[in-house]
Amino acid sequence: MNKITGFNIGSLSIQNNLFLAPMDGYTDYPFRMIAKKQGAGIVFSEFINGLDVIYSHPFLHQKIFFTDFERPFAYQIFDDSPERILRTAQILEKNNPDFIDINMGCSAKNVANRGAGAGLMREPEKIQKIFSLLKKNIQLPITGKIRLGWDENSLNYLEIAKIIQEEGADMLSVHGRTKRQAYGGVANWEAIAEIKSKLSIPVTANGDVKTVLDIQRIKDFTGCDAVMIGRAALFNPWIFNGKDKHEVSSIELFNAFQDHLGKMITFYGLSSGMVLFRKHIKNYLPVDTLHREERIELFSQKDLLKLTEIIRSYIFKGVGVPNPMSQQHASNAE
Ligand SMILES: Cc1cc2nc3c(=O)[nH]c(=O)nc-3n(C[C@H](O)[C@H](O)[C@H](O)COP(=O)(O)O)c2cc1C
Repeated sequence: MNKITGFNIGSLSIQNNLFLAPMDGYTDYPFRMIAKKQGAGIVFSEFINGLDVIYSHPFLHQKIFFTDFERPFAYQIFDDSPERILRTAQILEKNNPDFIDINMGCSAKNVANRGAGAGLMREPEKIQKIFSLLKKNIQLPITGKIRLGWDENSLNYLEIAKIIQEEGADMLSVHGRTKRQAYGGVANWEAIAEIKSKLSIPVTANGDVKTVLDIQRIKDFTGCDAVMIGRAALFNPWIFNGKDKHEVSSIELFNAFQDHLGKMITFYGLSSGMVLFRKHIKNYLPVDTLHREERIELFSQKDLLKLTEIIRSYIFKGVGVPNPMSQQHASNAE
C-alpha cells in the first residue's frame, strides 16, 4: 500500500513514499535505523543548527552521522541567516547525503523567535533568498518543511509554498499547523490539500497520522505524493511496515527494545546511551500504569542487565502496549 509508484526529488528516485519526520532529540542514528528496518522510505536527521556546523559543536559528529543503510537520507538545517544556511549546506554536502532540507516549521521559542524555523515564515523574502542561494550553489536536491504560517491571522502557506517552488526546490513537506498551535488542536489537512493542488513539485503531507489507516486517509484527502510520520513512529515504528501497535507481538517489541538500546549504547557510550534511552521507554511500556516506585526503578536504572530484565519482565508480563494518548514528547524543537 505504501510503496506506491515512485516520484523524484530532483534526480533522486523515490519508490517508498512513507517518510520518518525529523524530530530533534529522537531521530538520531539509532532510532532512524529502527524506523528504516521497519520500512521507512526516507529518513531525515534531527534539525541541525547552522551555527553548530560552522563552529564545529562538540556533539556535531553525532548529529551528522549516518550510514548507507539509511539512504535516501537528508540533513535538515535550521538557521535564520541565508548565507549561514548556504555555508552549512556546503559543509554538509561533503558528507554526501541524498538531499538537504530546510526547517521552516520549528515552533520552539528559542528558534522561532530568533527568526529561524517557523520564524522564517514571517520573512518570505528570506525564504526566497535561502532557496535561491542553495539552488545556485549546492548540487544536491533541496527541499523544505513548513507549517501553515505564524498564527491563524497570518496563514501565508500558499505564498511561501509558491516562492519555494519558484526558486527551484525539489519537494515541500507541510505540517498542517501554525507556529502558534505548536502541537495542539488538529492538523489541517485541507490546507495541505490546497498546497498540493497549487504546486507541481512533490508535496509531503504531515500531521496527525497515527494509524496505518490514517496513512491512506491523508493520501486520499490531500492527494500528496508522500506521507511523513512523526510522533506515531516513535511510539510505533512498525507503522512503516503496515502494523498498528496492537498488532506488534511481545517478542517483536522486546527485540526492538534490545536493538534500540544496544544501538544507543554503541553510539553514545554505555552511560549516555542509557540516559538518552530513557525518553524512549514510554514508547515500549505503558509507564503511567506503573507504580511510582516501579517508575523510579525504571527511570533511574544504571545497570544495563537490570534495566533489560525489568523491561523484559514488563513486556512479557503483558502490562499492555503504551497508550498513544499519553505520549508526551517534550522537545525543544518543532
Ligand atoms: C520531539 C519532536 C521533535 C521535533 N523536531 C523536529 C525537527 O527537528 N525538525 C522538524 O522539521 N520538525 C520537528 N518536529 C515536528 C515533526 O517533524 C512533525 O512535523 C510533527 O510532529 C507533526 O507530525 P506528527 O503529527 O506525525 O507528529 C518535531 C516533533 C517532535 C514531537
